[in-house]
Amino acid sequence: MKLFIDSGNLKDIEALCAIGIIDGVTTNPTLLAKEPGDYKENLKKICAIVQGPVSGEVISTEFDGMMREGHDIAALDEHMVVKLPLTRNGIKACKALSDEGIRVNVTLVFSAAQALLAAKAGATFVSPFVGRLDDIGQNGMELIREIVQMYDNYAFTTEVLVASCRNPIHVVDAAKMGANICTCPPALIDQLFNHPLTTSGLERFLKDWEKAYPSAK
Ligand code: E4P
Repeated sequence: MKLFIDSGNLKDIEALCAIGIIDGVTTNPTLLAKEPGDYKENLKKICAIVQGPVSGEVISTEFDGMMREGHDIAALDEHMVVKLPLTRNGIKACKALSDEGIRVNVTLVFSAAQALLAAKAGATFVSPFVGRLDDIGQNGMELIREIVQMYDNYAFTTEVLVASCRNPIHVVDAAKMGANICTCPPALIDQLFNHPLTTSGLERFLKDWEKAYPSAK
């Protein structure tokens, strides 16, 4: 399963990419609006760092505007993916841009029916938001199970990008279900590393070693 960073923060992206386990980045208008500097320049810098798919979202809700913004976003860098919301115009623009060979990530997906439309429109990625579903008392991960099964039934090539992940259980469940990608905020990626037994085990190993070889440090 691929791991994307859900952030527009250059420092966080740089630090995590340096570890060597990051495959891409997703942004949205809320995330990019938090960062200083010109958002287009920031997106280009993110592409240079990650060297993998980077999603940038359109702001327009009209078909023509989505197409114009989609072309602008795609022209920023070869790694850019155009993020479009799951609306009628978004699906129409997804089909048109995908037919031109531009990769599209259909976002704000909350149902299996919506995911089916994204796949039929040729989306490269579909982004179901699991955390926001959990927030309203619906089972976000159950939606992932449905989409993976549905896409498998028809061999759709659209990749399931699990979005709005809030905890390591979301990530592990996504992998067990066969989702293609999880996008996580930097703090969640940090959490994936942590286990109290790793911390205490390492402390113990180092202490024991120091006792036996006091001069080794
Ligand atoms: C993904 O593409 C979205 O930007 C993101 O995962 C939304 O997460 P949130 O629900 O935590 O805002």
